[in-house]
Amino acid sequence: MAEAPGPRLRPESARGPRVRLTCDGVPVEAHPGETVAMALWAADRRTLRRSTRLGAPRGVFCNMGICFECLVRIDGHATRACLAEVRDGMRVETIGPAPEAGA
Ligand code: FES
Repeated sequence: MAEAPGPRLRPESARGPRVRLTCDGVPVEAHPGETVAMALWAADRRTLRRSTRLGAPRGVFCNMGICFECLVRIDGHATRACLAEVRDGMRVETIGPAPEAGA
């Protein structure tokens, strides 16, 4: 049975081999050439950081490196997810305090 293409492409589109990264320890598969932001978006990870004062969720906003709303930690370095290309073994961590229960 053919694999569903997911939200990235039309069914007739062909893709190369996948790479594997983790986000907060959870495995995520992506394709070479994708940005971390879009790989996480396709994996239904919309919250990439939380604001320092209120812990409000933040995620992709401009998707072109201007707003810094997509700031994550990649292999220990703060990086804009919309500008970073995925690679195999990459370790992504979201930034900010954990949300309060029920938030
Ligand atoms: S979404 Fe604005 S800098 Fe990445």
